[in-house]
Amino acid sequence: MEFESIHGEQIPKIGFGTWNLNGEECVRAVGSAFELGYRHIDTAEMYTNEQQVGEAIKSSGLERGEIFLATKVLSSNLRQNAILEACDRSLRKLKLDFIDLYLIHSPNSRVPIEETMQALNTLVEQGKVRMIGVSNFSIQQQAAAQANSDAKLLTNQVIFHSQYPQRELLKYCRENDVMITSYSPLARGRLAMHKGLQAIGDRYGKNAAQIALRWVVQQPQVVTIPKSSNRARQRENIEIFDFELTDEEMTEISKNSRFS
Ligand SMILES: NC(=O)c1ccc[n+]([C@@H]2O[C@H](COP(=O)([O-])OP(=O)(O)OC[C@H]3O[C@@H](n4cnc5c(N)ncnc54)[C@H](OP(=O)(O)O)[C@@H]3O)[C@@H](O)[C@H]2O)c1
Repeated sequence: MEFESIHGEQIPKIGFGTWNLNGEECVRAVGSAFELGYRHIDTAEMYTNEQQVGEAIKSSGLERGEIFLATKVLSSNLRQNAILEACDRSLRKLKLDFIDLYLIHSPNSRVPIEETMQALNTLVEQGKVRMIGVSNFSIQQQAAAQANSDAKLLTNQVIFHSQYPQRELLKYCRENDVMITSYSPLARGRLAMHKGLQAIGDRYGKNAAQIALRWVVQQPQVVTIPKSSNRARQRENIEIFDFELTDEEMTEISKNSRFS
């Protein structure tokens, strides 16, 4: 595993996404991810699986400090009291004393950003949350969130893959010491069937999904959180640190992206 160094933290470059994992399947998939070496887990109030993620953490036998746990508050819970209550609920379900990274799941223009950021800062002061961030925020929304917060934003979690390289946002994040957490790095599985990626993978003995993920994590200040319910694919997704794409391949992979 490689790590992203930011704000004095070492964040695993590959985390484990849990959207669409529920019930026993979620407990089993997160448990399997821990066994394979994943230490960064991404969940959300919206996924209704924090209880199961908490069970998997408990039965992993890992020390709390070995795990980096990120969860997100629903955009309908961004008022002061709602966010404080949502955080307590998440902590109870996760069976944890603190959350490593607490994100606003998506912006809500009906709630003043000052109010939400104040509530997040209160949670940091109370020790319930170690770090804060945002998700699905534009550059302008991210700037407004930071301008209203003493605590520094660690990340903006956004869709980010070779067909959606987010060049402007990445530049802005790098200039402002914020990390991007890439979600849907496989374009929800579609990139695993990409012939161009597979052709590059053949040079390294890797498959298309591994090339797609390598393209993401090879970029400074970017980490990612692929999801897989399948142990063999979970293993593939983490086995991407024994080769390096050339600069030409990095450019080639995203050159036909339909979105900037
Ligand atoms: N903040 C947000 O608004 C937001 C939005 C979307 C996602 N997320 C987070 O980001 C995580 C990842 O995104 P995602 O779940 O949308 O998409 P993704 O990770 O790009 O793709 C997941 C899909 O790809 C398949 N897959 C995984 N590894 C594979 C491999 N090696 N070969 C072939 N297929 C593979 C999975 O199927 P199997 O499970 O069958 O392997 C699943 O259908 C989510 O789980 C969630 O934690 C956040």
